[in-house]
Formats: sequence, structure tokens, C-alpha cells
Amino acid sequence: MHHNPISIQNLNYTYPDGTQALREINLSIKATERVALIGANGSGKSTLLLHLNGIIIPQSGQVMIGEWTVRSEHLRNIRNFVGLVFQNPDDQLFMPTVWEDVAFGPMNLGLRGQELTDRVVQAMAAVDIDPEWYGHRNTDNLSGGEKKRIAIAGVLAMNPQVLVFDEPSAQLDPRSRRQLIELLQSLPITQLVATHDLDLALDLCTRTVVLSQGQVVYDGQTERLMSDPTFLLQHALESPLSYSRPYCQLEDAPLNSVLFLDTPVVKADGILL
Ligand SMILES: Nc1ncnc2c1ncn2[C@@H]1O[C@H](COP(=O)(O)OP(=O)(O)OP(=O)(O)O)[C@@H](O)[C@H]1O
Ligand SMILES: [Mg+2]
Repeated sequence: MHHNPISIQNLNYTYPDGTQALREINLSIKATERVALIGANGSGKSTLLLHLNGIIIPQSGQVMIGEWTVRSEHLRNIRNFVGLVFQNPDDQLFMPTVWEDVAFGPMNLGLRGQELTDRVVQAMAAVDIDPEWYGHRNTDNLSGGEKKRIAIAGVLAMNPQVLVFDEPSAQLDPRSRRQLIELLQSLPITQLVATHDLDLALDLCTRTVVLSQGQVVYDGQTERLMSDPTFLLQHALESPLSYSRPYCQLEDAPLNSVLFLDTPVVKADGILL
């Protein structure tokens, strides 16, 4: 196992229209570490993640994945090593049926027969997708959350050593979101998770990196960051729900609201007090 499966040095990226999306990024992630990547819309999260399996080749600076520099001649090795779940599942799913889509990656790795079937069933089970029910469905006709789960299954089926997620919980219902968090907690592999779901970041990652206008402005403990609303606000972020609702724990609530909870009073206009 590589000591630092992801290592980025002085990475800059400017899109062809002149938009500078990444500036002097330096980032190293240790084996089995889970790191959250957060930042406002347009801060550069997706652009950074697209470098990690070579969809974008670095313009200046260096990205190392395991022992490989991200360059076109190493893409095959890199893509077997890093599983990237795209922000938009429509960018990921391309085979006609759910089964074929999840099987595509492991088939490319050479799996066939029972071994392939087992891998696909296992990956689907991890995201609570029943192969009997979904296997023959057309991926185009699935709901947003179903597509996201199939996209995650397709990546898990490759058994990658590094998992990179772009907004894994977007579109998931609360139960699927909780199951995903538990699944990611149970996987002993390196994970980098770009997310606007700061409660997910808190549950999953002790370390968080904040991007702001293409630059790393924080790299440290998640708890410390989340308890600094001024810093979050400076970078167009808001405190996670679990930090911003102090009375959601009944024992913390002021006496009045406990009384109201016990004996709700309905006003004449129907508003519950
Ligand atoms: N294909 C493109 N051409 C030009 N500019 C782009 C392109 N894709 C992204 N950008 C710009 O690059 C910057 C970073 O975009 P990116 O998609 O990486 O942000 P993000 O942090 O993932 O945002 P979000 O939270 O909305 O997903 C933004 O200013 C965006 O407008
Ligand atoms: Mg994005």
C-alpha cells in the first residue's frame, strides 16, 4: 500500500476560456485517510477531482496517484487504482442496463462468469440496489437518487484502492444518505469526498480541506473548522445543521420550549406554539 496514494504539488489549472479554476494546490492524502473537500459553488472542487483519474491532465504542477504521475501513458493504471464518482450520474452511466453498467468496470479488469456476477451483486448490495428488480432496467429511466446509487455501485465494483466522490449524498433520500455514510465508514480505503453536506463531512472525515476561488484556504481538523462560523462565512460557507441548531437536543432546550413540546398550544390561526 502506498504511503500517500494522492500527492499534489503546485497544481494550477485554467480552462480554455481563461477561467483560472485552481491555483497552487498542494495536498497529500495518506493511505486509508478520509478527507472532505468543501468550498462554495465554483471554488474548484470538481476541477481538482477530475485531475485525480486523469480526465484533466495537469497543466502545471504535478499529481501523483500511487506510484504514477498523472499523464496519458499512465491512465489505465490510474483508473484501476482510483474510482471517481462524478457529481452528475448522467456523466457516469452509459450502458443500456443497470447490470451492464455496474459490470462494465470489472469486465474491463478481466472478470468473467461467477466471479463477475458475485462482484456486481456485491456492489449493488452495498448501495441497496436489488439486482432482480433493477438489473434489466434502463439507466435513463431511473430517478436521480437511483442513478447516483448505480454510479457508486459501478465504482465499488472495480475494488479501487482510492475512492473519490463528487457530491455523493446529493439526490439521496435521508435513509440512503445514512446508509452511504455507514458504507463509506466501513471501507478501509483512502477516500476524498467533495461535498456541500457538512454534516456528512463531520460524520465521515476527521480532516477537511477548504477550497476558495481555486485555493486551499484550510487543511485541518473538521471539528475545528465547523466550530468557526466566522471563517466559514468568509469563504461563503455555513455551519453544518448539527452546529447551528443548539436546541435540537431536548436536554439543551430552554425550559419554555420543553414545556411547549410536552403541551402544545394551538393558537386560533392554527399555528402550533
Ligand atoms: N468547462 C469549463 N469551462 C470554463 N470554466 C469552467 C468549466 N468548468 C468549470 N469552470 C469554472 O471553473 C471554476 C471551478 O468550477 P468547479 O466545477 O470545479 O467548481 P465546484 O467547486 O465543483 O462547484 P460546485 O460546488 O458548483 O460543484 C468555476 O469558476 C467554473 O465556472
Ligand atoms: Mg462541483
